Amino acid sequence: MPAAQLELLLPLLRCPYTGSALRLAGNTLQSGAHVYPIQNGIPNLVREEQVSAIDQYFQQQYGAEAARAYDRAIFLLSLLIGCWEPAQRRRLAQLLDPPTGGLVLEVSVGTGANLPFLSEAVGQRGEIVGIDLSPAMLQRAHGRAQDLSIPVHLVRADACRLPFADNTFDAVFHFGGINMFGDVPRALREMVRVAKPGAPVVVGDEGLSENRRRTFLGRRAAKMNNLYLCRPPFAAVPWEDVQGFQLHWAWRELFYVFRFHKGCPAARSQEDHAVSVQAEVRRRVLESPPPGEYGI
Ligand SMILES: C[S@@+](CC[C@H](N)C(=O)[O-])C[C@H]1O[C@@H](n2cnc3c(N)ncnc32)[C@H](O)[C@@H]1O
Repeated sequence: MPAAQLELLLPLLRCPYTGSALRLAGNTLQSGAHVYPIQNGIPNLVREEQVSAIDQYFQQQYGAEAARAYDRAIFLLSLLIGCWEPAQRRRLAQLLDPPTGGLVLEVSVGTGANLPFLSEAVGQRGEIVGIDLSPAMLQRAHGRAQDLSIPVHLVRADACRLPFADNTFDAVFHFGGINMFGDVPRALREMVRVAKPGAPVVVGDEGLSENRRRTFLGRRAAKMNNLYLCRPPFAAVPWEDVQGFQLHWAWRELFYVFRFHKGCPAARSQEDHAVSVQAEVRRRVLESPPPGEYGI
């Protein structure tokens, strides 16, 4: 990452374990006793011993070979299910609808497949920060970011411990990883924490709609990849801090997509009681599991 770009990013970064500011020291970022290397221009804000076992396991699934094969595999898979991948990704970026010229965070940026569409959505004066746990996926994203006309800052980080100050981003986007994060409620809380009050948040992953579960395509997809049997993680949503929640479906209803705004404290304080009762009702209703299909 060029020094000028790191200078722009530095004020937003925090130690993910203490929340303290970081300072640049040679080719490292430091906060108290913690020293984080900058590798191939990408700050590495992860302490391996702090990554949960499940996140470590899935990180291994995204090594160099998987990263090389990823884009082609997703393109072919999309064709197989009757989808044009660029159109699906564009639709998700448009659903986020970030403010023009805003600062967008993509959590689990992967190979950067969403970057061209997020960049289109945020416009020429916008900026994007992308984080991912896999160094190999980040390297692919780095290559893709070079072709974009807006700044893209990449950081190695764990979605369950985002290394950013509260209320930093004008929009937050995540697609394709949350089902298998080590701590799903925490990851959602983190996305909301780093969003500015009122900022839009979009989160999606594999999960068939109820209608799609009954179809040939739904059954084939579930057989091929059990993750399609996941239900949208409603119970993990931090309802107290969320407004305007919507559930969408993407990729022929093989993926659920949440869209909401981070709540604004001023609006909330007037309705505190109503909001918390509503949040509790939602939690209880959504925690009751739907009738099991496919024996689950
Ligand atoms: C299926 S890929 C999706 C990539 C990209 N978002 C897309 O739409 O193509 C899942 C990504 O989640 C990342 N990931 C998995 N666990 C993570 C975690 N705890 N924190 C951050 N990223 C994680 C993986 O490294 C991988 O790049």
